[in-house]
Amino acid sequence: MFTNILHKIASHPRVYDCIQLIVGAGCTRRRLAESVACLDKANFVIDLGGGTGIHGDLWHSAGSYVCLDVDILKLEGFRSKCPEGMALLGDATKIPVKSNSIDVIMCTAVSHHLSDEMLSDLLDESARVLRTKGTFIFVDAVWKPERLLGRLLWKYDRGSAPRTAQHLQGLIEKHYELIHIDVYSVWHEYLLCVGSKESGDRKQTSLGFCNDRRGERKTPPEMPGDFPICDARRSNQSLAV
Ligand SMILES: C[S@@+](CC[C@H](N)C(=O)[O-])C[C@H]1O[C@@H](n2cnc3c(N)ncnc32)[C@H](O)[C@@H]1O
Repeated sequence: MFTNILHKIASHPRVYDCIQLIVGAGCTRRRLAESVACLDKANFVIDLGGGTGIHGDLWHSAGSYVCLDVDILKLEGFRSKCPEGMALLGDATKIPVKSNSIDVIMCTAVSHHLSDEMLSDLLDESARVLRTKGTFIFVDAVWKPERLLGRLLWKYDRGSAPRTAQHLQGLIEKHYELIHIDVYSVWHEYLLCVGSKESGDRKQTSLGFCNDRRGERKTPPEMPGDFPICDARRSNQSLAV
């Protein structure tokens, strides 16, 4: 009952954003920003389970950032902060996007909402839609029973499937070569992984995967005509917000 009331309050997009900041989204954000700064130019970025697009503004230099989520209320929250933003109402386990079409897939704080089968489908789907040289960025809080505070937070979390860092890393490594792994603690312990289908010419650095273009200014690419995603602003399909 108490948990249900908490979930109802927390589902409001503004309340949700505040809670995310309190539970450590700022710390995750700094780490994500470092990872994003190290990437090559991205035309298409898709945020699986992007919610209110809390990390969307890290992708200003990308041609298109798309926030995909199953929760229309969260996507409405995203659109109210970012009216021009592309919101896609869809299931991350069946991504409604062409194969081999996306440069970066981001997936933050989602895996603990998914069953084993759904998480496996999400990873399969991410690998299908990601371009060969694309980058997969994953973050989630992990199950670490020694952390009392973490155990308490999991008790009230809507997600029901926290996993250990080792388990998650193993699942991601079935699809991607990991070029950066970071485990850090806020209230929970977190795993951040950056993976690539092809690690290619990237060098190992203290961050783990930077290439020579760090700091280079990125010019936003032009929006191509054949944008691979259903976009509600241009179509009447019910898939998008
Ligand atoms: C804890 S929130 C994380 C939101 C955002 N990524 C962040 O870092 O703040 C988890 C999100 O995953 C979404 N979600 C859960 N299952 C999903 C699925 N199968 N497909 C797409 N989104 C899903 C939820 O609606 C929710 O917005």
